[in-house]
Amino acid sequence: MQTKLLNLKNQAVALISQAENVKELESLRVQFLGRKGQVNQILKEIPKLDIEAKQQLGRLSNDVKKAIEQTIKTKQKSLSKPDVKKEFFDPTIPPAAPKLGQLHPITKIINQVEDIFSRFGFTIAQGPEVEWDEVNFQKLRLGPDHPSRDTQETYYFDDKKLLRVHTSSVQIRYMQENKPPIRIISPGRVYRRDTIDATHLPSFYQIEGLLVDNQTTLTDLLGMLEHTAKQLFGQKRKVRFYGHNFPYTEPSLEVEVQNEAGKWLEILGCGVVHPEVLENCGIDSTKYQGWAFGMGADRLAMLKYNISDIRNLYSGNLQFLNYDRS
Ligand code: DAH
Repeated sequence: MQTKLLNLKNQAVALISQAENVKELESLRVQFLGRKGQVNQILKEIPKLDIEAKQQLGRLSNDVKKAIEQTIKTKQKSLSKPDVKKEFFDPTIPPAAPKLGQLHPITKIINQVEDIFSRFGFTIAQGPEVEWDEVNFQKLRLGPDHPSRDTQETYYFDDKKLLRVHTSSVQIRYMQENKPPIRIISPGRVYRRDTIDATHLPSFYQIEGLLVDNQTTLTDLLGMLEHTAKQLFGQKRKVRFYGHNFPYTEPSLEVEVQNEAGKWLEILGCGVVHPEVLENCGIDSTKYQGWAFGMGADRLAMLKYNISDIRNLYSGNLQFLNYDRS
């Protein structure tokens, strides 16, 4: 009988440890420890035994019951824990990618223009937004009483210092410090008193370009600008040049590009650098010529990304900024 009990215990422990859920465990408990369970079935035989054997079997049966109970308890605990092994988890799978932002449309355009010009040996020059009147105007042949100052009103800190109205000031700074050959572009922010509407803001971005060498002509400028427009907007986009007047170039031109709706939008002013401007910066105008341009980066972004209102570019509106322009 002792052997029977011990076998029963081993069987119970083996089955209990294999139980897969609480329900199965409960039916095993009933099967072994229930009132009509297998352990009690064996104990029914006890009355038939002599005293010594009774005592022995009594002790053993208690031990067997305890052992089975203990096994059930342990199993219960492990079943109530989430089964880690069964949960699908592959540590080699990369986590979900965080949502990335994207560059601002103006930054994108500036990068593209830098890219186009860097292939022709242009480097990037920078100048301050707070500028001398002398550099912003006078050295560019815009004397104190020049009428075109009226259309380029700006904020003056005193009678000499102002917020620059164009990036053309960087031409002067660069030519004062560096001698030809010169090939630079200079992106940056400019300020002008202006009435706000869909295509005008009192502050916007320009990209200035300047080339000074001993053998360059207006046609190089036209070719370079047409190439830039086609690179930015595609081969089919129409570009037109027409005469203009800037005191710092002779001749002077403006360039317009057609938007998707067929409307012409002015994107830049340009021309052959006036000899006096070269001389103002210590460059011999009998030996060197140059050409220059100033593009509106905001306008370029509007044309490229089909943006109808310039104010969107400064709105911080996430729906506008997150729009896919890749
Ligand atoms: N500075 C002009 C503007 O703000 C643009 C410009 C015209 C720049 C002719 C130039 C240039 O360098 O040669 O509209």
